[in-house]
Amino acid sequence: MLPPHGGNLVNREPRSAKSREHLKREASELKNIELKPGEVKHLQNIAFGSYSPLKGFLGKNDFNKVVRDKTLEDGTVWTVPIILDVTEEKADEIADEEKVTLVGESGIQLAIMEVEEIYSVDKKEAARGLFETDDEDHPGVKNFLNRGDYFVGGPIKLIRGGFEDFYKYLLKPVETRVLFKEKGWEKVVGFQTRNVPHRGHEHLQKSALEVADGIFIHPKIGQKKAGDWKDKVILESYDILLDNYYLHDHAVMSIFPADMFYMGPREAVFDAIVRKNYGCTHFIVGRDHAGVGDYYGDFDAHKIFDQLSDIDIEPLTFDYAFWCKKCGQMVTDKTCPHSMEDRIAPSGSKIRGMIKDGETPPDEIMRKEVAEFVTGQESPFVMEG
Ligand code: ADX
Repeated sequence: MLPPHGGNLVNREPRSAKSREHLKREASELKNIELKPGEVKHLQNIAFGSYSPLKGFLGKNDFNKVVRDKTLEDGTVWTVPIILDVTEEKADEIADEEKVTLVGESGIQLAIMEVEEIYSVDKKEAARGLFETDDEDHPGVKNFLNRGDYFVGGPIKLIRGGFEDFYKYLLKPVETRVLFKEKGWEKVVGFQTRNVPHRGHEHLQKSALEVADGIFIHPKIGQKKAGDWKDKVILESYDILLDNYYLHDHAVMSIFPADMFYMGPREAVFDAIVRKNYGCTHFIVGRDHAGVGDYYGDFDAHKIFDQLSDIDIEPLTFDYAFWCKKCGQMVTDKTCPHSMEDRIAPSGSKIRGMIKDGETPPDEIMRKEVAEFVTGQESPFVMEG
């Protein structure tokens, strides 16, 4: 198994009930910052080590290095900034504080943070570096530009985790690392998704599984754009797929609580690093990974891995997978000699269109059991706003 990114698995959870009580007492004396749901997930991921080597929210030097060079200040590859933003009013209020309490929406104490610095950046310029565009029609850019104008950087100590949705699916890196060992898996392939599984996803997963010991299916659970699948529907579809078409000895599903960034190639590298922390040795990157609209080239997320220093986890890159009527199976341009007319593409927008029209996607696109489940859902998609 590969060591975590940066060498050690970060653990910012209290070591005992006593130290949790101690933190709680300290927290009640401090000023608060209320976290948004996406930040609560980041906080928990930092504490559990999913974002190793990060011990807290990024400071300005790390932020700028991530934007410019896709590394942290010390040169460790890191492509997506994990930041905590506040309004100017909040920045003024905590300007002289050494520590603050991070609280959830209901005011519940989640963590203590050392305030190392409070800073601002040129958000438009940063957006261009991170997303390759500052177009506000890009959902990731829009979220980023809508953040507060000040960022707070510094290490955290968790009091309690705050993200409890779909708790039964949650595994921490320290747990998956033990689980993979117990299963005797040496080669473990990570798979990121934000979709109900179609035959293209299954093709990638099973092709990878032919040369690995196990597949770790790890859907990103959190805020998505309108029209994307709801998390509950994604997870229940995967339960159905796994029960009917996978061997539990070779497939594990858990959740990665995080909002989609829609950062294309940068997010592919981030996704791979996070799965390395969970104990994966390989990571699947297919067509338009974490992409949106036409902002990124279909295979930009393959190329980025060659432009960075080695991150140890090996990307398994895949061409576009589709069904060929003549071959009678899922294929790619590498494996199928037939014409465009013979193709049935597992396109996400086509599938969503069919479901909206009350049609059941055919078996060449989606497994029957999954298709029947999603067609039976009253409102399977995220709504506007
Ligand atoms: S996302 O995180 O990349 O947005 P999505 O569910 O759309 O999630 O895709 C999961 C993974 O499967 C990504 O690596 C994506 O590139 C890949 N993928 C999805 N559909 C196909 C396909 N038909 N052919 C090749 N790769 C695909």
